[in-house]
Amino acid sequence: MFSGSLCTGTSFLCRLLLIAIATFVSITNTSGIGVDTITPAHPLFDNGTTVVSAGQTFVLGFFGSGRRYVGIWYYKVSVQTVVWVANRGRPITRGRGILSLAADGTLTIVTDANSTVLWSSSSPSASGSLSSPVAQLLDDGNFVIRESGSSSSYRLWQSFDFPTDTLLPGMKLGWNLTSGLNRNLTAWTSETDPAPSGYAMGVDLDGYPEIFLWSGTTKKWRTGPWNGLRFSGIPEMKSYDRLSFDFVVHRDEVFYSFYIHDPAYISRLIVNQSGITQRLVWIEQDKQWNPFWFAPKDQCDNVSPCGPNGICNPNESPICDCLPGFHPRNPSNWDFRDGRDGCLRNTGLDCRNGTDGFTTVVGAKLPDTSRAAVDMSLSLDSCKIMCLQNCSCTAYAAANISGVGSGIGCITWTSDLTDLRVYISGGQDLYVRLAASDLDLARAESKGSRKNTYIVIAIVVLAVTIILLSCAAFVWRKKRISTSITGNNSFSEQYLNEENEGQDLELPLFDLGTITDATGNFSIANKLGEGGFGPVYKGQLGEEQEIAVKRLSKSSVQGVDEFKNEVVLIAKLQHRNLVRLLGCCIQGEEKMLIYEYMPNKSLDANLFDKARGALLDWRTRYNIIVGIARGLLYLHQDSRFRIIHRDLKASNVLLDKDMNPKISDFGMARIFGGDETEANTRKVVGTYGYMAPEYAMDGVFSVKSDVFSFGVLVIEIISGKKNRGVYNSSRQLNLLGHAWSLYKEGKILDLVDESVDYSFPITEVMRCLKIGLLCVQNRPEDRPTMSSVVLMLGSEDAVLPQPRELGFVTNRGPLESDSSTSKPESISTNHLSITIFEGR
Ligand SMILES: *[C@@H]1O[C@H](CO)[C@@H](O)[C@H](O)[C@H]1NC(C)=O
Ligand SMILES: *[C@@H]1O[C@H](CO)[C@@H](O)[C@H](O)[C@H]1NC(C)=O
Ligand SMILES: *[C@@H]1O[C@H](CO)[C@@H](O)[C@H](O)[C@H]1NC(C)=O
Ligand SMILES: *[C@@H]1O[C@H](CO)[C@@H](O)[C@H](O)[C@H]1NC(C)=O
Ligand SMILES: *[C@@H]1O[C@H](CO)[C@@H](O)[C@H](O)[C@H]1NC(C)=O
Ligand SMILES: *[C@@H]1O[C@H](CO)[C@@H](O)[C@H](O)[C@H]1NC(C)=O
Ligand SMILES: *[C@@H]1O[C@H](CO)[C@@H](O)[C@H](O)[C@H]1NC(C)=O
Ligand SMILES: *[C@@H]1O[C@H](CO)[C@@H](O)[C@H](O)[C@H]1NC(C)=O
Repeated sequence: MFSGSLCTGTSFLCRLLLIAIATFVSITNTSGIGVDTITPAHPLFDNGTTVVSAGQTFVLGFFGSGRRYVGIWYYKVSVQTVVWVANRGRPITRGRGILSLAADGTLTIVTDANSTVLWSSSSPSASGSLSSPVAQLLDDGNFVIRESGSSSSYRLWQSFDFPTDTLLPGMKLGWNLTSGLNRNLTAWTSETDPAPSGYAMGVDLDGYPEIFLWSGTTKKWRTGPWNGLRFSGIPEMKSYDRLSFDFVVHRDEVFYSFYIHDPAYISRLIVNQSGITQRLVWIEQDKQWNPFWFAPKDQCDNVSPCGPNGICNPNESPICDCLPGFHPRNPSNWDFRDGRDGCLRNTGLDCRNGTDGFTTVVGAKLPDTSRAAVDMSLSLDSCKIMCLQNCSCTAYAAANISGVGSGIGCITWTSDLTDLRVYISGGQDLYVRLAASDLDLARAESKGSRKNTYIVIAIVVLAVTIILLSCAAFVWRKKRISTSITGNNSFSEQYLNEENEGQDLELPLFDLGTITDATGNFSIANKLGEGGFGPVYKGQLGEEQEIAVKRLSKSSVQGVDEFKNEVVLIAKLQHRNLVRLLGCCIQGEEKMLIYEYMPNKSLDANLFDKARGALLDWRTRYNIIVGIARGLLYLHQDSRFRIIHRDLKASNVLLDKDMNPKISDFGMARIFGGDETEANTRKVVGTYGYMAPEYAMDGVFSVKSDVFSFGVLVIEIISGKKNRGVYNSSRQLNLLGHAWSLYKEGKILDLVDESVDYSFPITEVMRCLKIGLLCVQNRPEDRPTMSSVVLMLGSEDAVLPQPRELGFVTNRGPLESDSSTSKPESISTNHLSITIFEGR
């Protein structure tokens, strides 16, 4: 228990001493005495002393000016952010506070002015008599009372069970049903007063559990039930590799929790003083908390603005509407846009005759489930039957939509449907029971032009139909003119059916005739180049659209698998720095990919060509680097999959008419599962000169192998030279080796392409070069991730780590098989992609 002010000087010895003490303390922590604990013999006094968790993540101490409180805040966050308060409503106003642990394991706050106990942890349960208790602040921010010296997880008391306004990762919001403990969040009264205000958030156990935000005794906002993926009322909620969520409904507990998988990522969920629940994320550069998400957001988020059986849609005016087959209960109020009275059924349900049916509300936030019943074992079909058989059932929906299809599990409502709203995306289907006569009406209504969504759907359907019809007509004509082109169609049909099953492939299928016409029968004049898997042609579709057609050679290495891989992958990727796939064509033996046309060709055709290279000024080069970095970051992190490109190189980066880079050629990309980070492959594919050492040698690839290729690209872009050439004949160094030796000699700027104007911004160029060197570090763990690369590229004052000595820099690598330098005219036509099969 020492304060940070012990060492006021910056003396090195002093710091060393502190480190030594800290190390000693953390070693002795196991025996229960140290800076992260309070024991009966060592209480915490309000004299600047604090308790710091072993990993220096959280601090416990006294805070507040005038009125003092005991609380926990982050150690590393420079803006003091209190995440827990002990004596919320009972500040210390006179005398000095003391937080002490009694021998029976109770924590109390008293003052040295009088003997009033301001706060105490709930008295220990009957079983809990500890022989030597200790209160310890853990690294997750939990302050626990346990037996000293025991490693058992038994905790007499923990602060996580008594949250204030903040939910930290791993904390549970909800109930222990065995003990009846209800953990909920309550907002502070004001910025400086942690006393509980009327705004609270907690799990409501009635019916099918949901989380409610309360303002006093009124419900303010509802998350909706958990649907296996997210809360039904938070369509934007999505687990990803940094943050994941869980909602557990068990016999003995019901709770919500979130988890952080990246220790550098600091995030918390709070109820703030305005009664808004928000997730905040700490941004170190800006030294501030960034709102990541919040609720309620719009009028429809308030609990039931449209009353029973109304639907709220914030994009409509008025926002309230009745469910199909219902009419406003109070038409005059309804006209004044007060929808709270809700709607009534036009025709009563006809229970016994079995003529009732269901109308579907698409994209719904499920109505309040406080009085709904759930059966997780039922399928959606059985759910419907069950609902029809029970006279009081008014609606049903799937309880878990995380699997394939429309979902499983069954929620049924037997009351009016309240607090129902719809979303443009992310909602789910709700099936509302109607009498037969209303059902026809509802059908007619949904066919009508009332809803924008329906119009959009209709237009899309119409457009698709027209396109299909004209394609069909075209094919038909084509077939009559020449019967020789079309071979056996069964492959394409079979292939597409296969694809359509699991992954909805929404990709236009071009007819071979159209493509033949567009490319002038694949004329040599239209040939743009020859990729690893076959020639690429330029084509013209109609008046405007220029396309690039990759025709896979029949004998190509890219088999059906790679082809499928590429099609499925690219169809799902959308980013301004990735080349866009317009469609594909599969007919007989022919397999073709149709891309948007890039008038400025590939990066290598520009970079390594004297005349064109001179046109690449520094700004353009910098934009290309940043663009590639963003595209790659998207592949690695931001798209729905974790994708490793595996063959990033100058010829796979295309430039559009404004010289924006677009990454292409995903034939070798691998999709990684959520938590898979590296893989081993039997088939090493890629291009020599861009391959990371661990990949070339051992076939181990990860996102960091792409980072390596990116680093090579950065250095090539700045130097205008190929990594494969020899740049220092006396030492046989390749470009990377050359760059490293210049860097060591402090002459790194000599590397910059002569054709770049000398007025380039030196610091920016240096930064890019240094990032390039960091990316080609020998060990994958020394290379930055693409997200830090993008950050480093973007911020002028980022402090970059020092690159280490590069290995693997001579041109005589163990796998070098081709040392010829490229001929100028074959620049983008012959990218040597080597494929090495490990014999197994
Ligand atoms: C705080 O008070 C305790 C107990 O009186 C004492 O051991 C400790 O040295 C004090 N710390 C400071 C910084 O004054
Ligand atoms: C003891 O001190 C507390 C906190 O300063 C104060 O609220 C309380 O009124 C005091 N009690 C007495 C009897 O003075
Ligand atoms: C719930 O409370 C009971 C009684 O205090 C305890 O034994 C049990 O471990 C708790 N359950 C969980 C999951 O914490
Ligand atoms: C929050 O929990 C406390 C006890 O744990 C309970 O008294 C209070 O009613 C709860 N509030 C809400 C809104 O659930
Ligand atoms: C509460 O959060 C909302 C949404 O982020 C924000 O607009 C509002 O200013 C916050 N209120 C306070 C008092 O911080
Ligand atoms: C059931 O149908 C019969 C005729 O098919 C009709 O006479 C009767 O009124 C219906 N029952 C109800 C409750 O609507
Ligand atoms: C109808 O459903 C309600 C609520 O789930 C249930 O209480 C009731 O027993 C059911 N009635 C029949 C006949 O199954
Ligand atoms: C929902 O369904 C998925 C897949 O079918 C399953 O893994 C998951 O455990 C289910 N969740 C719940 C809460 O039943």
